[in-house]
Amino acid sequence: HSTKVGIIGAGPAGLTLALLLQRKGIDCIILENRSRQYVESRVRAGLLEQNTVDLIRELGASERLDKEGLEHHGVYLSFNGVRQRVPFKELTGGRCITIYGQQEVVKDLIQANLDRGIEILFEAHAKHIEGIETENPSIFYEHNGEEHELSCDFVAGCDGYHGIGRQHLPKDTYNEFRIEYPFSWLGILANVAPSSDELIYAYHERGFALHSLRSETVSRLYIQVENDDTVDNWSDEKIWEELSIRLGTEGWKLQSGPIFEKSITPMRSFMIDNMQHGRLFLAGDAAHIVPPTGGKGLNLAVADIRFLASALTNWYDNQDDSLLQSYSQDCLRRIWRAQDFSNFMTYLFHKQAPHGSFENLLQKSKFDYIGISKAQATTIAENYVGLKEI
Ligand code: FAD
Ligand code: DHB
Repeated sequence: HSTKVGIIGAGPAGLTLALLLQRKGIDCIILENRSRQYVESRVRAGLLEQNTVDLIRELGASERLDKEGLEHHGVYLSFNGVRQRVPFKELTGGRCITIYGQQEVVKDLIQANLDRGIEILFEAHAKHIEGIETENPSIFYEHNGEEHELSCDFVAGCDGYHGIGRQHLPKDTYNEFRIEYPFSWLGILANVAPSSDELIYAYHERGFALHSLRSETVSRLYIQVENDDTVDNWSDEKIWEELSIRLGTEGWKLQSGPIFEKSITPMRSFMIDNMQHGRLFLAGDAAHIVPPTGGKGLNLAVADIRFLASALTNWYDNQDDSLLQSYSQDCLRRIWRAQDFSNFMTYLFHKQAPHGSFENLLQKSKFDYIGISKAQATTIAENYVGLKEI
């Protein structure tokens, strides 16, 4: 069978691309490795930038997000028990972030795709891509135990870090950059009201901790652990005790409750400096990974898609390939900014050097500077809510 744009992956990137293309009358099909139930329950990010919320609204898929998403106008930063707040409104001209779980975003976007008649083939495993240097590439995939070929004009590799899209970019067309951090995050979801009205990012001499939330009754928290650690080492009691110490500040108490999800995520920065070749275009985690400390992963994926959808629309409407040509360069400005900010937040809040060492005292000085300097607080606020200009 055939379509105009063959999309590999039904994550935030693939699902938003399909909706944007469909609006312009450009046919597409999404191939997704996993079952619908699996992708809708995969627990990941929760922080949406204003741009991301705006796009979901534009796509007419924001009914639940508008009701259940929680707008935040500031964030707490903590260093060994000293807490300060960075307000967004006054520092960014009124921008804010919205807390809404990635699996809820994915559910809403899948429903919107199906409502508009876009075909999503679940449990369809893309195995290889041929002909990206021709005008008629094909994706070969397996579905229900049978091999199929999807012939298209363009292939969008929205298939995440472990996908096949990136493997089909010729090795001599890009440089690759990578940092593997010497720590991981243990993330939990718990049935307990959040103990804070806004997120808390905390450095503590025992390690990083983050207090986030999903709703008025569900809290989401993270804690820095060793790379070789396992969830079996962390009883519920030990997790709450450690979070309470790391997030603690005078006159504040962390409420605990039943934990219903625990998982460990490694931390890496990964980049390629070209995201396209011929008729193959990569977007989202397929092309870049940021450590989660800046809350940027999902937002970057959606930002890539804005450029890709405009470029493809311009090609179909006007036979103009200039935006396709500049696609990688257009995306990379924002990606590098997010790489830098995510790396900055990671080094600022994680324990990586002994308490009281030179490196650790630099961390403390950077933290103190946020409270002293409006310029530094603004730098954090504008990167955190997401820059409008790139
Ligand atoms: P994905 O959401 O990964 O979607 C890619 C899709 O492609 C998947 O559904 C996959 O099943 C499918 N696929 C892969 N290979 C194939 C194939 N061969 N054929 C067909 N389909 C295929 N970001 C934050 O900002 N904060 C966080 O706390 C955070 N936590 C995270 C925790 C984990 C465990 C992970 C993995 C990521 C986390 N992220 C976080 C990052 C964020 O979730 C991603 O940046 C975001 O999902 C990127 O969206 P995407 O659409 O590019 O990729
Ligand atoms: C969440 C995750 C993040 O990585 C982050 O920086 C902020 C919030 C979350 O899951 O809620």
